[in-house]
Order: sequence, then structure tokens, then C-alpha cells
Amino acid sequence: MEIRRVRRDDVKWFIEVYQRAYANLPEYAYTRRREIRSYFNWLLGRDQEGFMVAEVGKPVGFVACDTNWISYYSDEKVGEIHELFVLPEFRNRGIGSSLLLKALDYARNRNRRVAELWVGEKNENAKIFYKKFGFKEEGVWGKWVRMIKYL
Ligand SMILES: CC(C)(COP(=O)(O)OP(=O)(O)OC[C@H]1O[C@@H](n2cnc3c(N)ncnc32)[C@H](O)[C@@H]1OP(=O)(O)O)[C@@H](O)C(=O)NCCC(=O)NCCS
Repeated sequence: MEIRRVRRDDVKWFIEVYQRAYANLPEYAYTRRREIRSYFNWLLGRDQEGFMVAEVGKPVGFVACDTNWISYYSDEKVGEIHELFVLPEFRNRGIGSSLLLKALDYARNRNRRVAELWVGEKNENAKIFYKKFGFKEEGVWGKWVRMIKYL
């Protein structure tokens, strides 16, 4: 498995992997290709270096860590994990963990003090996953739970 920076021409893979990764979580994800494409472009524009892809011969997972994000809560720049997903058939072999660790390292290297993310309230798997890395629940906004970790 290799992790590299995302390029503009990864957009087709991003859309395919995203749709399959979120197939069982439609309430927390975009469903239309056009929306997912815009989201990809938005992520690239936010922080290109923090947008990474894991490949096992082909792209199987993505993470997007935005170090230009200012938290609504603390008014400081944080490492905002906007996105993390892995293809279902490639889960439980450490790919999600490797992507998250890369994202946290990147935020640390950019001197961010806090990593933040928002996870769907019913997305129990993801919440358990993040807690293993030291993320703690710190607030709710609608159906989203805020989680943070001090870096
Ligand atoms: C959350 C998500 C990214 C995790 O990805 P993943 O690649 O399965 O993550 P990992 O394999 O690193 O860790 C998952 C489990 O595998 C275990 N694991 C880690 N490395 C392993 C290895 N080398 N071999 C076997 N198991 C391993 C972990 O301990 C963990 O165990 P758990 O079942 O007790 O949680 C993935 O489930 C996903 O894409 N979910 C849908 C999208 C989503 O909800 N994203 C988060 C939005 S906020």
C-alpha cells in the first residue's frame, strides 16, 4: 500500500471510491456525481498537500486534512479532517489508520495544535475508530458530532 498526494486527475477515482464507501451511510454523504465532483475540487482548493490517496494497485481510500481551516469553536487554525473513507473490501487491514496517521502528522508538521472532525451521530464504527486515536466528542451540531484531538 502506498500513500501519495491527490492530483486533479484522481477525480474519477474519488467519485467511485466515495460512492461505494458511503453506500450504507447516505444521510451523511453526497449522492450525486456532480456534487461529489464539486466537493473534490473544493477539497483540492482548501489544502492540496493534506489531500491524500491510498493505493493498492489502484486508489482504495482518501483522506483530506485542511490546515487552513479556522475552527468555529476555538477561532484558531486546526487540522480539519474533512474526509476519510476506504473501499469496503479493503477495510480492516490498516489503510484507514495509515491515512489518518498521515493526516495527523501533516497537521503536526504545520504546527496545528488541534485536529478536528465532524462525524455522523449514528456512524458508530467511525466514532469508535476515531476514539482509538484519542479523539474525544466535543459538541454536536444537528446530526453531526464534533470530535477533537490535541496534537
Ligand atoms: C472509518 C474507516 C475509514 C476505517 O477504515 P479501515 O481501513 O477499515 O480502518 P483500519 O483497518 O485502519 O481500522 C479498522 C479496524 O481494523 C483493525 N486493523 C488495523 N490494522 C489492521 C491490520 N493490519 N490487520 C487487521 N486489522 C487491522 C483496527 O484495529 C480496527 O479495528 P476495529 O474493527 O476494532 O475498529 C472505514 O470504515 C470507512 O471508510 N467507513 C465509511 C466512511 C466513513 O464513515 N468515514 C468517516 C467519516 S467521518
